[in-house]
Amino acid sequence: MAKPHVVVTRPIHEAGLKILKEHFTVTLHDNALMSESELRAFVKGADAIVSLLTEKMNDEVMQAAGEQLKIIAQYAVGFDNIDLEAAKKRGIAVTNTPGYLSGPAVAEHVLNMMFALARHTLPADAFMRGGMYKQWDPNLFLGQLLTGKTVGIVGGGQIGATFAAMCHNGLKMRVLYTDVVANEKLEKELGATKVTLEKLLVQSDVVSLHVPLLPSTKHMISKEQFHIMKPNAILINTSRGPVVDEKALVQALKHKTIYAAGLDVFEFEPNLAEGLAELDNVIVTPHIGSATESTRILMSECVARNVVAVLSGEAPLNVVNK
Ligand code: GLV
Ligand code: GLV
Repeated sequence: MAKPHVVVTRPIHEAGLKILKEHFTVTLHDNALMSESELRAFVKGADAIVSLLTEKMNDEVMQAAGEQLKIIAQYAVGFDNIDLEAAKKRGIAVTNTPGYLSGPAVAEHVLNMMFALARHTLPADAFMRGGMYKQWDPNLFLGQLLTGKTVGIVGGGQIGATFAAMCHNGLKMRVLYTDVVANEKLEKELGATKVTLEKLLVQSDVVSLHVPLLPSTKHMISKEQFHIMKPNAILINTSRGPVVDEKALVQALKHKTIYAAGLDVFEFEPNLAEGLAELDNVIVTPHIGSATESTRILMSECVARNVVAVLSGEAPLNVVNK
């Protein structure tokens, strides 16, 4: 019998590809983005698709793959690029790489941006390189102390909780969070308090977004929200770009309605909203929240294990469309 066919839409870490190649015929696309018609042609005949958030997995793609398609294994925590209902109707399992794998890496990147914004690290570096440092100056690059301040976690899942723990245990920060469900562990271990989004925004010195992109979370942070935030507030988004109204953010940063923002994801990704790149109270990174070598190995192996399970007739390990 021919080996099952697995297609991988862009190169992922070799660790998982190695596992896949031991079991299946693997077709790996190069790093170029495919058009919708190229994607439909690429997946034809596949028993499993390994997808990235750059590929829209809609009903037409599933149809083009064919009836033998059993699993779409997403190499990411988020899966807003996949039509879960269409997959369910067709009996296709959709799996993700859960937040406990990438949580530490994403949380560390949130800290990375948080510290850099609070202490003006990038402008200070540019100042040195530009030869502008002439003598020690007690008023140079005054930033904000974060120890003992309040951090607000919008979305108290695995990644948000990991970041909250780092803030609480490392910086003695008070933790507020908002979510549709309570996270008892967060409350018990960190003394976190579940509050409304409004209360969280009014009280937090640092606000970090950890919600999936849904109709209910699109533009969750917009003009109205910026106006109730503290003027010293630092906003960090490592979730999905459209959760923040980026045009409203540009205005808020420009007029110092809030202090600073760190963005790893963008409303118009890969593009920046007009005016954003000219501001010095923002840090922008190219969607690298979980980009550490060890995390990518975990994610890659996770994707492979889900494919192996499903194509061996077993239940998927990390199904998201039950
Ligand atoms: C990255 O954005 C992910 O969802 O893992
Ligand atoms: C400023 O926010 C400070 O705490 O130093």
